[in-house]
Amino acid sequence: MAENQTFDELKTPGAVFFIFGATGDLARRKLFPAIYSLYREGKLAEDFAVIGVARRPRSPEEFREDVKASIREFSRYQAIDDNEWTGFVNHFEYKSLDINNIDGFRELREQTEGLEERFRIPGNRLFYLALAPELFGSVSFNLKAGGMLDGEGWNRLVIEKPFGYDLESAEKLNEQIRQVFQEEEIFRIDHYLGKEMVQNIEVIRFANAFFEPLWNKQHIANIQITLGETVGVEERGGYYDHAGALRDMAQNHMLQLLTMIAMEPPSRLLAEDIRDEKVKVLRSLRPYLTGEEVRKNVVRGQYTQGLFNGKTLPAYRQEDKVNPESTTETYFAARVFVDNFRWAGVPFYIRTGKRLPAKTTEVVVEFKSMPTNVYLGQKHNLEPNLLVIRVNPMEGIYVKINAKKPGSESEIQPLAMDFCQSCLIGINSPEAYERLLHDAARGDSTYFTRWDEVSSAWSFVDHIAKAWREDSSDLASYPAGTWGPVEAAELLEQDGFQWWPVNGQKESNVVWSVNNN
Ligand code: BG6
Repeated sequence: MAENQTFDELKTPGAVFFIFGATGDLARRKLFPAIYSLYREGKLAEDFAVIGVARRPRSPEEFREDVKASIREFSRYQAIDDNEWTGFVNHFEYKSLDINNIDGFRELREQTEGLEERFRIPGNRLFYLALAPELFGSVSFNLKAGGMLDGEGWNRLVIEKPFGYDLESAEKLNEQIRQVFQEEEIFRIDHYLGKEMVQNIEVIRFANAFFEPLWNKQHIANIQITLGETVGVEERGGYYDHAGALRDMAQNHMLQLLTMIAMEPPSRLLAEDIRDEKVKVLRSLRPYLTGEEVRKNVVRGQYTQGLFNGKTLPAYRQEDKVNPESTTETYFAARVFVDNFRWAGVPFYIRTGKRLPAKTTEVVVEFKSMPTNVYLGQKHNLEPNLLVIRVNPMEGIYVKINAKKPGSESEIQPLAMDFCQSCLIGINSPEAYERLLHDAARGDSTYFTRWDEVSSAWSFVDHIAKAWREDSSDLASYPAGTWGPVEAAELLEQDGFQWWPVNGQKESNVVWSVNNN
């Protein structure tokens, strides 16, 4: 790809999209609706085709019905009329395939060539593996052996997390894939990078004169990243009990968010320049090498039975497919340091958990208090300035400042200048998968994780996992429906801080410029 290529061109080049795992949940909930949105918005070239691949036998008609049902249920657009719908779904075909059978791949090749001829597709092929990672290697090998990579255009591999279980397994997986695909052809999905407000972090930081000069250890007291979920493990107990919050959320989404906040401004806004800066952050993370360091800086917890909104929620150990004696963490919090010039000494507090009282993804930047404060005293309710980036479910940013209370002599009150993006565009903000599929089809890898990012993140996480394996006595508990173990609050209290917003609630002592939740 040319070094100076930009991705302003909205339309994808003509391509065949292969969805491996086409009868699975991800395809149904996210991928088919994403393809449909791109089609409706005119971002998908006319010369496209989709081949759903899975083991299960399905006629093309049955498959198209599946696609229709998925779009009806999950798409942000509804099919308008039959003509439009037929125009879209005619591009979909299905292939029942045993991924260990090369002959099946040869048949897939014939089917693909037929479609390429029919829709005049210039040989570009995008392989989306919505499959268990153990299968990535075999599928890659057989794509090659079956001649699927001999088309005239480009080939791209899009893969889902988890990318390995630890550094060692991730390396093995990577080696297998790299025997077939070049790094530039591999698009590792971290769907948090496709979220509107996560992508906005870069703009907020680098396009505003009043943030970047303050974005450092001189002015920032701490940074907090929260990825809270109300759901439990649902029907994924089998996978989750093996992974836990550290591998499921922290190694990928959480650390990726941290890199976006902490990275240096890239010299150019090109994929490799941005990813170079992100990987430097990951390499600067202070590793916790001993059990003692881990216990001092990391908290893990597991939810017990709890009462939320009048409903009894089961304990984690009672969930389907979970070991009744499991020590897997459903909550993870840590104080981490980015040991570089900009951030020396600034704690980053990160936390994620299942069965918390609110679904919330937020980044809070807490600025240092004014040095010698003339406003100290009872009348004044001085709070630190905060910049809060709200990623999910509300999208927006707010800045908390101190101002004089109108009409009072000199009383001070905090107020929040709030920009609520989701209040303006509502649910119509594009889904992360929509953006990422669009980017992958255009060859823009900015918001995909490069191998060195993945491996650096595993290096950091592996030390914690090792300490936990050796001693599980620090596993704390919290009732389902609460904000996690008390130890997580203590982590900040030890440094004289607290989690913002307190208890995840919109702060009631603050005057808000916009009335939203
Ligand atoms: C996934 C995790 O990567 O992210 C899930 O495997 C989690 O356990 C999900 O629920 C959260 O994503 P989102 O977009 O709903 O915040």
